[in-house]
Amino acid sequence: MKQRIIQHGATDSTSERAFAALLEGSARDGDVHVAESQSAGRGRLGRPWSSPPGGDLYASVILLPQPPGWSPAGLTIAIGLGVLRGLERLGATELGLKWPNDVVDSMGAKLAGVLIETRGLKKSAPHYVAGFGVNLSRTEFPPELLAERPVTSLALLGFEVDAESALAEILPELDAAIGQLEKTPNVLCNAFVKRAGLYDREVEVKKQDQDVRGRLVDLNLESGLSLIGEEGAQIEVPLEHVSGVRRV
Ligand code: BTN
Repeated sequence: MKQRIIQHGATDSTSERAFAALLEGSARDGDVHVAESQSAGRGRLGRPWSSPPGGDLYASVILLPQPPGWSPAGLTIAIGLGVLRGLERLGATELGLKWPNDVVDSMGAKLAGVLIETRGLKKSAPHYVAGFGVNLSRTEFPPELLAERPVTSLALLGFEVDAESALAEILPELDAAIGQLEKTPNVLCNAFVKRAGLYDREVEVKKQDQDVRGRLVDLNLESGLSLIGEEGAQIEVPLEHVSGVRRV
């Protein structure tokens, strides 16, 4: 991935800037839009992503797969793992993943989030924007965020890292994880399941219509999650039906 860094000051959302560049035809595969702050930073499920100025990382990478064949689920797994591995290169330890897109510390507090989006996806001209936000230097968070879940930052974990250095460590790991997604997706999926602490564990999978429980034995981008349910029943849940997975 050959990368140009497009630096914004205060902007609405780095993912929105990436989509604007795609629309005007100036975007190249691997372009990274970065901002100092975002007034309309967004997370999954339409949630806002708190994005004040002051040194946290807000970045969106443009991905133009050649040949087409990636799925949002595959990219979420690859980018989540890539961000996690980049943060480990910065010295952070005991990090994990929370399905599908959070990097968390050993206590489950959220350190980073990933948002994969596409607009007007066509088989002939697919495009994705992979946005990720990392709490680097913040030591205080808005009460409404803390009411939702525990949150942390690299600073709170004892690491002082600026956004530029963090990005420099994360980008090669994103590249490597995307390479794995293309060449050895099963290796990538196994790594994800292990880092999410889900392998061989009893889990509850949230589906559109009903929740299912069982021991998680495999994650495959084509067939989805494989569980062993009651009395040894094999259960397969396609990834597009999964809205959450948690250990029980
Ligand atoms: C989540 O955990 O729900 C995903 C959060 C993704 C936030 C990043 S910050 C950079 C990029 N721009 C956005 O508006 N969102 C993503």
